[in-house]
Amino acid sequence: MKIYLDTGNIEEIKHAAETGLLNGVTTNPSLIAKEGRPFKEIIKDIAKMLSKHTKDFTVSAETTSTDWEGMVKEGLAYAKYDKHVIVKVPLTPNGLIACQKLAKKRIRCNVTLCFSPNQALMAAKAGAYIISPFVGRIDDHGGHGMDLIEEIRTIYDNYEFKTNILVASVRSPDQVRDAALIGADIATIPYKIFQKMFYHPLTDKGNAQFLADHAKYQAALAKK
Ligand code: E4P
Repeated sequence: MKIYLDTGNIEEIKHAAETGLLNGVTTNPSLIAKEGRPFKEIIKDIAKMLSKHTKDFTVSAETTSTDWEGMVKEGLAYAKYDKHVIVKVPLTPNGLIACQKLAKKRIRCNVTLCFSPNQALMAAKAGAYIISPFVGRIDDHGGHGMDLIEEIRTIYDNYEFKTNILVASVRSPDQVRDAALIGADIATIPYKIFQKMFYHPLTDKGNAQFLADHAKYQAALAKK
Protein backbone atom coordinates (compact mmCIF):
# COMPACT_ATOMS: atom_id res chain seq x y z
CA MET A 1 0.00 0.00 0.00
CA LYS A 2 1.29 3.43 -0.89
CA ILE A 3 1.52 6.10 1.81
CA TYR A 4 0.93 9.75 1.01
CA LEU A 5 1.19 12.70 3.36
CA ASP A 6 -1.92 14.89 3.57
CA THR A 7 -0.39 18.34 3.95
CA GLY A 8 0.87 21.44 2.20
CA ASN A 9 3.66 21.91 4.73
CA ILE A 10 7.10 21.51 3.20
CA GLU A 11 8.88 20.86 6.53
CA GLU A 12 6.55 17.94 7.30
CA ILE A 13 7.07 16.57 3.80
CA LYS A 14 10.86 16.93 4.15
CA HIS A 15 10.92 14.89 7.39
CA ALA A 16 8.56 12.20 6.08
CA ALA A 17 10.33 11.93 2.72
CA GLU A 18 13.71 11.45 4.44
CA THR A 19 12.45 8.09 5.76
CA GLY A 20 12.24 6.87 2.15
CA LEU A 21 8.72 5.57 2.85
CA LEU A 22 6.64 8.33 1.30
CA ASN A 23 4.99 7.78 -2.10
CA GLY A 24 3.25 11.10 -2.54
CA VAL A 25 1.42 14.09 -1.12
CA THR A 26 -2.20 15.21 -1.25
CA THR A 27 -3.25 18.81 -0.76
CA ASN A 28 -6.62 20.52 -0.65
CA PRO A 29 -7.59 24.22 -0.63
CA SER A 30 -7.87 24.24 3.20
CA LEU A 31 -4.38 22.75 3.66
CA ILE A 32 -2.92 25.15 1.06
CA ALA A 33 -4.58 28.15 2.76
CA LYS A 34 -2.76 27.29 6.03
CA GLU A 35 0.61 27.80 4.36
CA GLY A 36 0.08 31.43 3.34
CA ARG A 37 2.14 31.08 0.14
CA PRO A 38 1.14 31.03 -3.55
CA PHE A 39 -0.43 27.74 -4.66
CA LYS A 40 1.88 27.19 -7.64
CA GLU A 41 4.98 27.74 -5.49
CA ILE A 42 3.78 25.20 -2.88
CA ILE A 43 2.97 22.49 -5.44
CA LYS A 44 6.30 22.95 -7.24
CA ASP A 45 8.22 22.90 -3.94
CA ILE A 46 6.47 19.68 -2.88
CA ALA A 47 7.37 17.99 -6.19
CA LYS A 48 10.97 19.18 -5.89
CA MET A 49 11.24 17.90 -2.32
CA LEU A 50 9.79 14.46 -3.15
CA SER A 51 11.99 14.10 -6.24
CA LYS A 52 15.07 14.21 -3.98
CA HIS A 53 14.00 10.89 -2.48
CA THR A 54 12.08 8.98 -5.16
CA LYS A 55 11.35 9.07 -8.88
CA ASP A 56 7.94 7.42 -8.44
CA PHE A 57 5.57 9.82 -6.64
CA THR A 58 2.48 11.97 -7.15
CA VAL A 59 1.33 15.35 -5.85
CA SER A 60 -2.42 16.00 -5.84
CA ALA A 61 -3.39 19.62 -6.58
CA GLU A 62 -7.06 20.56 -6.25
CA THR A 63 -9.12 22.71 -8.61
CA THR A 64 -11.39 25.42 -7.21
CA SER A 65 -13.68 26.17 -10.18
CA THR A 66 -17.30 25.04 -10.03
CA ASP A 67 -17.81 24.58 -13.80
CA TRP A 68 -16.06 21.78 -15.69
CA GLU A 69 -14.51 24.17 -18.21
CA GLY A 70 -12.79 26.01 -15.36
CA MET A 71 -11.63 22.76 -13.76
CA VAL A 72 -10.16 21.58 -17.07
CA LYS A 73 -8.39 24.90 -17.53
CA GLU A 74 -6.92 24.73 -14.03
CA GLY A 75 -6.00 21.06 -14.50
CA LEU A 76 -4.14 21.77 -17.74
CA ALA A 77 -2.17 24.51 -15.99
CA TYR A 78 -1.36 22.33 -12.93
CA ALA A 79 -0.13 19.51 -15.14
CA LYS A 80 2.53 21.87 -16.46
CA TYR A 81 3.87 22.60 -12.95
CA ASP A 82 5.40 19.12 -12.76
CA LYS A 83 4.88 15.77 -14.50
CA HIS A 84 4.02 14.13 -11.15
CA VAL A 85 1.01 16.39 -10.53
CA ILE A 86 -2.41 14.74 -10.32
CA VAL A 87 -5.43 17.01 -10.70
CA LYS A 88 -7.97 16.82 -7.90
CA VAL A 89 -11.59 17.43 -8.86
CA PRO A 90 -14.68 17.18 -6.63
CA LEU A 91 -17.17 14.34 -6.95
CA THR A 92 -19.83 16.44 -8.66
CA PRO A 93 -21.29 16.02 -12.16
CA ASN A 94 -18.99 18.83 -13.37
CA GLY A 95 -16.02 17.27 -11.59
CA LEU A 96 -16.63 13.98 -13.39
CA ILE A 97 -16.99 15.73 -16.78
CA ALA A 98 -13.67 17.48 -16.12
CA CYS A 99 -12.14 14.12 -15.12
CA GLN A 100 -13.15 12.58 -18.46
CA LYS A 101 -11.87 15.56 -20.48
CA LEU A 102 -8.55 15.55 -18.62
CA ALA A 103 -8.20 11.74 -18.88
CA LYS A 104 -8.56 12.06 -22.67
CA LYS A 105 -5.54 14.36 -22.55
CA ARG A 106 -3.69 11.77 -20.44
CA ILE A 107 -3.88 13.93 -17.32
CA ARG A 108 -4.58 11.83 -14.23
CA CYS A 109 -7.36 12.87 -11.84
CA ASN A 110 -7.92 12.29 -8.14
CA VAL A 111 -11.68 12.50 -7.60
CA THR A 112 -12.16 13.80 -4.09
CA LEU A 113 -14.95 14.15 -1.50
CA CYS A 114 -16.34 10.65 -2.05
CA PHE A 115 -18.86 9.50 0.57
CA SER A 116 -20.77 6.65 -1.12
CA PRO A 117 -20.18 3.50 -3.19
CA ASN A 118 -22.27 4.87 -6.06
CA GLN A 119 -20.13 8.01 -6.19
CA ALA A 120 -17.04 5.78 -6.38
CA LEU A 121 -18.63 3.78 -9.20
CA MET A 122 -19.34 6.97 -11.17
CA ALA A 123 -15.78 8.21 -10.64
CA ALA A 124 -14.31 4.93 -11.91
CA LYS A 125 -16.57 5.07 -14.98
CA ALA A 126 -15.30 8.62 -15.57
CA GLY A 127 -11.74 7.28 -15.72
CA ALA A 128 -10.49 8.54 -12.35
CA TYR A 129 -6.92 7.54 -11.57
CA ILE A 130 -7.65 7.89 -7.86
CA ILE A 131 -10.87 7.91 -5.83
CA SER A 132 -10.65 9.58 -2.42
CA PRO A 133 -13.27 8.36 0.10
CA PHE A 134 -13.15 10.45 3.31
CA VAL A 135 -13.35 7.88 6.12
CA GLY A 136 -12.75 10.26 9.05
CA ARG A 137 -15.52 12.64 8.07
CA ILE A 138 -17.95 9.68 7.75
CA ASP A 139 -16.95 8.49 11.25
CA ASP A 140 -17.30 12.06 12.56
CA HIS A 141 -20.95 11.91 11.46
CA GLY A 142 -21.63 8.59 13.18
CA GLY A 143 -21.01 6.38 10.13
CA HIS A 144 -18.44 3.65 9.44
CA GLY A 145 -15.88 4.99 6.98
CA MET A 146 -14.11 1.66 6.58
CA ASP A 147 -17.34 -0.02 5.43
CA LEU A 148 -17.24 2.33 2.45
CA ILE A 149 -13.67 1.28 1.64
CA GLU A 150 -14.70 -2.40 1.69
CA GLU A 151 -17.68 -1.71 -0.56
CA ILE A 152 -15.60 0.25 -3.07
CA ARG A 153 -12.94 -2.50 -3.08
CA THR A 154 -15.64 -5.07 -3.91
CA ILE A 155 -17.18 -2.95 -6.67
CA TYR A 156 -13.84 -2.16 -8.29
CA ASP A 157 -12.75 -5.82 -8.11
CA ASN A 158 -16.11 -7.00 -9.52
CA TYR A 159 -15.65 -4.92 -12.65
CA GLU A 160 -11.85 -4.75 -12.76
CA PHE A 161 -11.76 -0.97 -12.49
CA LYS A 162 -8.16 0.21 -12.32
CA THR A 163 -8.98 3.33 -10.27
CA ASN A 164 -6.81 3.46 -7.14
CA ILE A 165 -8.64 3.59 -3.81
CA LEU A 166 -7.05 6.29 -1.66
CA VAL A 167 -8.23 6.30 1.95
CA ALA A 168 -8.50 9.97 2.93
CA SER A 169 -9.48 11.95 6.02
CA VAL A 170 -7.49 9.59 8.24
CA ARG A 171 -7.64 10.25 11.97
CA SER A 172 -5.66 7.33 13.49
CA PRO A 173 -2.99 4.69 12.76
CA ASP A 174 -5.69 2.01 13.25
CA GLN A 175 -7.47 3.33 10.15
CA VAL A 176 -4.28 2.88 8.14
CA ARG A 177 -4.07 -0.73 9.36
CA ASP A 178 -7.73 -1.32 8.43
CA ALA A 179 -7.16 0.23 5.00
CA ALA A 180 -4.22 -2.12 4.42
CA LEU A 181 -6.22 -5.17 5.56
CA ILE A 182 -9.05 -4.30 3.17
CA GLY A 183 -6.61 -3.85 0.31
CA ALA A 184 -6.87 -0.11 -0.31
CA ASP A 185 -4.19 1.07 -2.74
CA ILE A 186 -3.15 4.24 -0.92
CA ALA A 187 -3.68 5.97 2.43
CA THR A 188 -3.09 9.71 2.76
CA ILE A 189 -2.31 10.69 6.31
CA PRO A 190 -1.48 13.75 8.42
CA TYR A 191 2.16 13.99 9.54
CA LYS A 192 1.32 13.24 13.19
CA ILE A 193 -0.28 9.92 12.17
CA PHE A 194 2.75 9.10 9.99
CA GLN A 195 4.99 9.57 13.05
CA LYS A 196 2.72 7.45 15.26
CA MET A 197 2.87 4.54 12.81
CA PHE A 198 6.50 3.84 13.73
CA TYR A 199 5.74 3.70 17.44
CA HIS A 200 5.12 0.78 19.75
CA PRO A 201 5.90 0.97 23.50
CA LEU A 202 7.42 -2.55 23.47
CA THR A 203 9.83 -1.49 20.69
CA ASP A 204 11.07 1.40 22.85
CA LYS A 205 11.22 -0.75 25.98
CA GLY A 206 13.01 -3.59 24.18
CA ASN A 207 15.46 -1.24 22.51
CA ALA A 208 16.29 0.50 25.81
CA GLN A 209 16.92 -2.90 27.41
CA PHE A 210 19.17 -4.10 24.55
CA LEU A 211 21.22 -0.89 24.63
CA ALA A 212 21.57 -1.03 28.42
CA ASP A 213 22.71 -4.68 28.29
CA HIS A 214 25.15 -3.85 25.50
CA ALA A 215 26.64 -0.95 27.50
CA LYS A 216 26.97 -3.14 30.64
CA TYR A 217 28.69 -5.87 28.67
CA GLN A 218 31.09 -3.41 27.01
CA ALA A 219 31.96 -1.89 30.41
CA ALA A 220 32.61 -5.34 31.84
CA LEU A 221 34.86 -6.25 28.91
CA ALA A 222 36.81 -2.97 29.29
CA LYS A 223 37.61 -3.84 32.92
CA LYS A 224 39.22 -7.19 31.97
C1 E4P B 1 -7.79 14.22 1.03
O1 E4P B 1 -7.11 14.29 0.04
C2 E4P B 1 -8.11 15.35 1.91
O2 E4P B 1 -7.11 16.33 1.77
C3 E4P B 1 -8.11 15.03 3.38
O3 E4P B 1 -7.77 13.69 3.65
C4 E4P B 1 -9.26 15.57 4.15
O4 E4P B 1 -9.12 15.23 5.50
P1 E4P B 1 -9.90 15.96 6.68
O5 E4P B 1 -11.25 15.38 6.80
O6 E4P B 1 -9.05 15.67 7.89
O7 E4P B 1 -9.94 17.44 6.34
